[in-house]
Amino acid sequence: MPDALPQLNPSPRLLLGPGPSQIAPRVLQACATPLLGYLDPEYIQMMDDVQVLLREVFETENEWTFCVPGTGMAGMEAALINVLEPGDPVLICVAGVFGDRMANVAERCGAEVTRVDVPWGTAVPAEKVHEALQSVQPKLVGIVHAETSTGVLQPLSEIGALAHEAGALFLVDCVTSLGGVPVGVDAHGIDIAYSGTQKCLGAPPSLAPITFSPSAVEAFQARKTPVQSFYLDIGQIWRYWGSERAYHQTGMINMTYALREALVMIHEEGLEARFARHRRNQQALLSGAQAMGLEPAVEDPAARLPSLTTLRIPEGINEAAVRGSLLNDYGIEIGGGLGQLAGKVWRVGLMGYASQRSSVMLLLAALGDLLKNERVDEGLAAAAALYD
Ligand SMILES: Cc1ncc(COP(=O)(O)O)c(C=O)c1O
Repeated sequence: MPDALPQLNPSPRLLLGPGPSQIAPRVLQACATPLLGYLDPEYIQMMDDVQVLLREVFETENEWTFCVPGTGMAGMEAALINVLEPGDPVLICVAGVFGDRMANVAERCGAEVTRVDVPWGTAVPAEKVHEALQSVQPKLVGIVHAETSTGVLQPLSEIGALAHEAGALFLVDCVTSLGGVPVGVDAHGIDIAYSGTQKCLGAPPSLAPITFSPSAVEAFQARKTPVQSFYLDIGQIWRYWGSERAYHQTGMINMTYALREALVMIHEEGLEARFARHRRNQQALLSGAQAMGLEPAVEDPAARLPSLTTLRIPEGINEAAVRGSLLNDYGIEIGGGLGQLAGKVWRVGLMGYASQRSSVMLLLAALGDLLKNERVDEGLAAAAALYD
């Protein structure tokens, strides 16, 4: 190691990958404001503000709406380990990497997991869930709303209704949808939903917003065995976020500042305007990309996720080299494929603050240059037409 390390100086990037996403300057500034103690009345007030603002974005009245310390995976673990006990039957829908992880975590809880698998790049049809429910009576039906590995948006209403008819809790992963796509926790009868701060919410990674319906809280309270993790025990976490204010872990102070600021920005923009912005920018990206001969990997237009677009890698292109040049020559990050889609797709996130016309136009122009695409002008014109 050299005697003196240079001062930290990360290169400026435009984050258009699957997350973390670009952060608004005022959110970064909020992070850098002075530290408070985890029980300071001013900090407690901020926690209360975050709960109110999270209920707005989750679209729920659930009292148990708060943050679990950790990234989206902490949300997934907390959602499952708090209601599942060994031997519990569960039904998990798998349409990509994150549905597969959900099944994996449920198995680690000792649950008896029945999977509904569908081809990657498609949504899970309600009929397949209906069919599976003929032979299993699950305690919980779990599904990913926005499958970040494929770019598919999963419809929720029918599957939520089926879960409830079967007497099961309905659990939804909203990591890549919350704050960019309507989640509608109460409208869809979702009992447990979790997310991550670093995608459409527009804050740095490290907190997992989570919400539990009264039925989910009841299921948690009816457990016969203690939750295997103290850190992610939502009863313990609620003692800190609820009226008791008991110590559970040191609060994620500056990250909570950032999340509060990001949620205030969402409140100021309004949910409908924010959802429309995410849709419009994705449509512009797709129009531009298609005009340049780049095709979306998700065939069904209705299934395309506004916050994350998968584009097929054109024949003969070294996809990793293009991503490398985008990063090194343009400062733009996009993602490669995950799991079955590794080497087959690029993943472009237009999430939160980065869901902007300038992101779309810069990325199309840079891709046009790096791919020596002769139709780049047509692509830019097609994208621009969406904004006129
Ligand atoms: C749908 C989905 N669920 C869960 C996760 C895990 O979140 P994290 O990487 O923040 O732990 C991700 C991360 O990309 C995700 O996209």
